[in-house]
Amino acid sequence: MHILVTGGAGYIGSHTLIELYKAGHTAVVVDNLSNSNPESLRRVAQIIGVDRIPFHQTDIRDREGLEAVFTKHHFDACIHFAGLKAVGESVAKPWEYYENNISGTLVLVDVMRKHDCKNIIFSSSATVYGDPAEIPITEQCPKGQCTNPYGWTKSMLEQVLTDIQKADPSWNVVLLRYFNPVGAHPSGRIGENPNGTPNNLMPYITQVAVGKRPQLGIFGNDYPTPDGTGVRDYIHVVDLANGHVSALKAIECVCGLAIYNLGTGHGYSVLDMVNAFQRVNGVTIPYTIQSRRPGDIATCYSNPAKAEQELGWKAKFGIDDMVRDSWNWQRLNPDGYNEN
Ligand code: NAD
Ligand code: WQD
Repeated sequence: MHILVTGGAGYIGSHTLIELYKAGHTAVVVDNLSNSNPESLRRVAQIIGVDRIPFHQTDIRDREGLEAVFTKHHFDACIHFAGLKAVGESVAKPWEYYENNISGTLVLVDVMRKHDCKNIIFSSSATVYGDPAEIPITEQCPKGQCTNPYGWTKSMLEQVLTDIQKADPSWNVVLLRYFNPVGAHPSGRIGENPNGTPNNLMPYITQVAVGKRPQLGIFGNDYPTPDGTGVRDYIHVVDLANGHVSALKAIECVCGLAIYNLGTGHGYSVLDMVNAFQRVNGVTIPYTIQSRRPGDIATCYSNPAKAEQELGWKAKFGIDDMVRDSWNWQRLNPDGYNEN
């Protein structure tokens, strides 16, 4: 299939491009580079062994820009990663988050339908479950109260896309609820490249390991979990990328609306992650225990059985692969894409 990948220069998008090409698909990237570097696409092309990945530096809110892309290419489907994703920033800048994520998706979907491309895979998040009513979380679990505007954009966009598919059943909409993506391509050539202080656990750990930050702060050790620290379902980004290739199969089978959790089904605590990182990589991660981070929940992990049953997708990489590949990327690229 020929796929439009919005946000394809970013962390998950760049890894997904590799798996798409490996599976025989081709792609065109639209990205405004607000949180990415085009060097990622050059490296993706090298890994795949093509001259270049077709790329348009276009904002998805720019209707004319998108029209030009759709006039130039015929797409079978869109994998829609483009969006702002920093939880804390969304609390400080709610308008910017609602405008970018929601207006952008509305423009994208309108241009898609005008060009008769009605197949979309949307990057959603486990954050839509709020403080989940059941653990492990199945797709039947009711959506919950999000604790930040970022999470609400995902929850609202799920509803928008659901309603559009309901009104026009010729749409195929796949909502993929990611758990906690970590890791990097095993080549160490592409990976997560956060601007400023990392919000997420794994990039913080790797920046401590590489000497950019003195120590990790662990946000609370008094949760009702085995060691008191928060438990999450970390998933290797290459597994997550392959989940998108599998989701294209749902579209080929004319799924209508389909929702899948993409997780491993295993919950690891913050201390599990720190200990695995130290053991596998032989690097010490100094840490202190700090107070809880507002909005955090104790435990969040998936039941990923539906994706396995219906798509034949299952995560293959374990915690050791995740911490090894995260460190490999950071160690080889201490300043991300900025230096090479
Ligand atoms: P990322 O920031 O690395 O990638 C997103 C890309 O979208 C960036 O390259 C950015 O420049 C681009 N972008 C943002 N707004 C745009 C716009 N208006 N027009 C065009 N391009 C735009 O983030 P990621 O981690 O790769 O996440 C990809 C998607 O997955 C996002 O929608 C994110 O919300 C979602 N998601 C991420 C996580 C996670 O922990 N990384 C978890 C769940 C869901
Ligand atoms: C994981 C655990 C923290 C940093 C977020 C978003 C979610 C999704 C994935 C996009 C928690 C602890 C973290 C640190 C710490 N993103 N931690 N010290 O909060 O599960 O999910 O990213 O959709 O929407 O909310 O991920 O990596 O921030 O935290 O102790 O410096 O690590 O308290 O228990 P989270 P995270």
